[in-house]
Amino acid sequence: MSIITVNELRCKKCGICAQSCPVRVIDQGIDGKLPVVTEAKESSCIYCGHCESICPEGALTHRLTTQALEASLDKGSQVSADAMGQYFKNRRSIRQYQSKQVPKEVLEQIFDIVRYAPTGTNRQFNQWVVITEPTQVQKMASVTIDWMRSIVNSNAGLAARYNLEGLIRAFDKGYDNICRNAPCLVIGYTPASYPLGAKDAVIATSHFELLAPSFGLGACWAGFLMMALQNSAEAKKAIGLNEESIVQAALMVGYPKFKYYKVPARNAASITWL
Ligand SMILES: Cc1cc2nc3c(=O)[nH]c(=O)nc-3n(C[C@H](O)[C@H](O)[C@H](O)COP(=O)(O)O)c2cc1C
Repeated sequence: MSIITVNELRCKKCGICAQSCPVRVIDQGIDGKLPVVTEAKESSCIYCGHCESICPEGALTHRLTTQALEASLDKGSQVSADAMGQYFKNRRSIRQYQSKQVPKEVLEQIFDIVRYAPTGTNRQFNQWVVITEPTQVQKMASVTIDWMRSIVNSNAGLAARYNLEGLIRAFDKGYDNICRNAPCLVIGYTPASYPLGAKDAVIATSHFELLAPSFGLGACWAGFLMMALQNSAEAKKAIGLNEESIVQAALMVGYPKFKYYKVPARNAASITWL
């Protein structure tokens, strides 16, 4: 059976499916012929499901992408540029959290959307470690500080650049500038052998960050934790990972303690028009 099934009665042979295919495996139906994927081209399909999603007649079904039907274009286009712009501009890095745990079910709902983020050739290699126990989050802050202590002793330049000694001093006095007493951590990783892992994971994690407010949550990138997880085998081991994976992104997540009332000013976009 072919990788795509085309309903003869519905298909108008408009060719949009063929044009939308990023790897051009669909041959456009011309002279009254239906679009096809020849056996020779099947193995090049990246299973992105665009052919099924884009068909205006609902005439095409891809073998593995019945889920594409979930996402209705009508619903998607209801978000106005103004609403979307306001939403994006109002996203803030949240660093103060209520002492309330984030339920697994809420996180699962977010990941169920995040999995639609773009990935290189639709590989979908993103994987996650999620910590929902605040004491475990504190442990990760501590593991990060341990790594910083080792850097202070071994790499003065790096330590100075990030003021690691200051961060360690603050931590020892009870200030967690690493995980900011967040109740939850979301850590994105990919197989070490996959060259586009950093891009894919950062895009997906950005999706997570942007989705968080619509679930009542706030998030903040955990840069120091990321550095530790990328540079210390012990830190990586603490979350159950080894050299087969690379940690690409980390977020602190929790229910915001405060509300933001204004969008802070940002630099104008720097664009070169060619
Ligand atoms: C890669 C990256 C790493 C970051 N690491 C940290 C961090 O370790 N701690 C922190 O409090 N904020 C961190 N941030 C948040 C930035 O400080 C924040 O995005 C910036 O100040 C702008 O504020 P806004 O996100 O509210 O617009 C990080 C942001 C990025 C993109």
